[in-house]
Amino acid sequence: MEEKTWVRMVTAQTPTNIAVIKYWGKRDETLILPVNDSISVTLDPAHLCTTTTVAVSPSFDQDRMWLNGKEISLSGGRYQNCLREIRARACDVQDEEKGIKIAKKDWEKLHVHVASYNNFPTAAGLASSAAGFACLVFALAKLMNAKEDNSELSAIARQGSGSACRSLFGGFVKWNMGKAEDGSDSLAVQLVDEKHWDELVIIIAVVSSRQKETSSTTGMRDSVETSLLLQHRAKEVVPKRTKQMEEAIKNRDFGSFAQLACADSNQFHAVCLDTCPPIFYMNDTSHRQVAYTFDAGPNAVLFAHNRKAATQLLQKLLFCFPPNSDADLNSYVIGDKSILKDAGIEDMKDVEALSPPPEIKNAERSKGEVSYFICTKPGRGPVLLSDESQALLHPETGLPK
Ligand code: DP6
Repeated sequence: MEEKTWVRMVTAQTPTNIAVIKYWGKRDETLILPVNDSISVTLDPAHLCTTTTVAVSPSFDQDRMWLNGKEISLSGGRYQNCLREIRARACDVQDEEKGIKIAKKDWEKLHVHVASYNNFPTAAGLASSAAGFACLVFALAKLMNAKEDNSELSAIARQGSGSACRSLFGGFVKWNMGKAEDGSDSLAVQLVDEKHWDELVIIIAVVSSRQKETSSTTGMRDSVETSLLLQHRAKEVVPKRTKQMEEAIKNRDFGSFAQLACADSNQFHAVCLDTCPPIFYMNDTSHRQVAYTFDAGPNAVLFAHNRKAATQLLQKLLFCFPPNSDADLNSYVIGDKSILKDAGIEDMKDVEALSPPPEIKNAERSKGEVSYFICTKPGRGPVLLSDESQALLHPETGLPK
């Protein structure tokens, strides 16, 4: 570390995930240890992901972070825990091309810069903290040459936000609650990769009217303290349901998958209602959707077992929730737009001409209740981006580009 000028950078991209067996309730608030196992689907990072660049340089005098271009504080306990845990696992780094040599012991004194960007609106309530903490931990681990595998890294990301541990893998992922007091066995494992069930289509309805929501952290704390249903769920329901869900995923059994995902989403929201004071995450728009799974917010995440089913679902959704007349269809249905094409919908005239879904009696059209739809599918886990043009920090200054 003779020279003062170098900057070493790593850029990574990490997906977000949606739980089909929900994590709700902690047995340890600091280590973020859950009261039950959970299972999630990783969403295609082409449509929803976080990109994070981390940099180290002897010229940095403090750890700093920018989120979507704005500087944010790293002083919170969750950031500090992740940074401390990753630093403890740092190893020697040698970059001969750039003439950089960092010894294991140097990492304690060196500071890092972090720039993170979500390719989806943070306010949409789509688990941005899950992708964010997973990406932070993954990128820092690569920067510091940590030898831990993704499961071991997931136990660090977990300390940033519980659901983040499941974003260290693609496909279908299980977070084992673990038993150890130090949390060492509370980590994520991949059940199957994203190719295993690739005909599955996921449509997310991002609803417009969003009341002020209870954060997951405070919501689940209240539930642990006051809901007896939560105790019953954690002890009796989830252990059996998790096994059944693993079977359904392994066998690509859509019927069982749908039944279990809906039942678990419903029970999670029942626990919220059983909490004192009750927590309301769904609004009227949510209830009028074909419900599959709802997180801690009113957005509906719908699963269709193949493209044909997804095409029909999108036609029905666009009949019931058409965009405002002045809206641009191109920004109303985002992600994998080929489903829109398959549905024969090219412009607003096609939306207006849709026929009502036969199974809904007197189906009404409610404009403006849904902000937009995202069409996506199961996706891959974290990757490193080697192209320096994709870095969010300047290679010489280590400041945001
Ligand atoms: C409803 O992971 O956001 O999305 O661990 O306190 O950061 P903290 O909570 P968070 O909770 C997610 C809850 C959920 C269900 C799930 O993702 O399993």
